[in-house]
Amino acid sequence: MVSHFLSLQFLLLLIILQCTTITTTVAQSLAPAPGPPGPTNITKILEKAGQFTTLIRLFEITKVGDQINTQLNNSKQGMTVFAPPDNAFSSLSAGTLNSLSDQQKDELVQFHVIPTFISMSQFQTLSNPLRTQAGDSTAYKFPLDITTSGNQVNLTTGVVSATVANAIYSDGSLAVYQVDKVLLPMSLFGPPAPAAAPAPESGNDKKKDKDDDSQSPSDDSASANSSDAVDLRRDLHGLMGGAIAFIAMFYL
Ligand SMILES: *[C@@H]1O[C@H](CO)[C@@H](O)[C@H](O)[C@H]1NC(C)=O
Ligand SMILES: *[C@@H]1O[C@H](CO)[C@@H](O)[C@H](O)[C@H]1NC(C)=O
Ligand SMILES: *[C@@H]1O[C@H](CO)[C@@H](O)[C@H](O)[C@H]1NC(C)=O
Ligand SMILES: *[C@@H]1O[C@H](CO)[C@@H](O)[C@H](O)[C@H]1NC(C)=O
Repeated sequence: MVSHFLSLQFLLLLIILQCTTITTTVAQSLAPAPGPPGPTNITKILEKAGQFTTLIRLFEITKVGDQINTQLNNSKQGMTVFAPPDNAFSSLSAGTLNSLSDQQKDELVQFHVIPTFISMSQFQTLSNPLRTQAGDSTAYKFPLDITTSGNQVNLTTGVVSATVANAIYSDGSLAVYQVDKVLLPMSLFGPPAPAAAPAPESGNDKKKDKDDDSQSPSDDSASANSSDAVDLRRDLHGLMGGAIAFIAMFYL
């Protein structure tokens, strides 16, 4: 009798198991097939992965998230996003993000986006520097170099070296990889380029100097003062030159 009861229980268990298998299969077949249907939404992908609230916020305030979604819809190249999680942002020195202007935030975020789809195996075959959405990949601007060793993929910006942890998402068109550090570009966080810059001189240079000063708040007050002093000296020179020419006219 006991053994009969046990086998009944076993039978019930089997039936229950069978039912759950059936329901999950049905649920799976009812779920939307992965891929084309509906536009890809990077915010949704990151929300689902969790731990990306800072990146999601940056995607929102810079509108780069929308831009990725439309670009994905309109290009066949696909896209790749390097996604630093919240702890990567919080390990930056305090105030790093707040010190950036809107444009600099935009550049920082674009630096994490590659305008082509890169699968895990393609990392081995890429040539450096990688071109990001931030643009100019020359030294001191937005270079991003990839080094690989086996399955390990590192990204070097010239300021930090980050490791690609794992793919959060990949559908053949968009790839999202978690990286352990925020990719800080040279242009914003590196040393200034050596002063070989052939500054395009044009017309009213004094006004231009002033504009340049107000554009770069990182310039310390000492240099602002000294450039003002230079301006003053230039003015005095001009004044004296004028006076000498004026006096000379009377002696000729
Ligand atoms: C993308 O997903 C987010 C969060 O789920 C949502 O707020 C937003 O409206 C979505 N955007 C589009 C274009 O569907
Ligand atoms: C995606 O592209 C199609 C056709 O190119 C267009 O009709 C649609 O509005 C686009 N969707 C989004 C979200 O941009
Ligand atoms: C990647 O970076 C880690 C940690 O900085 C380092 O140990 C490793 O050797 C690097 N690997 C490659 C392929 O550069
Ligand atoms: C010049 O330097 C002084 C003291 O270093 C500072 O108080 C002042 O604001 C500076 N002026 C400008 C124009 O930066």
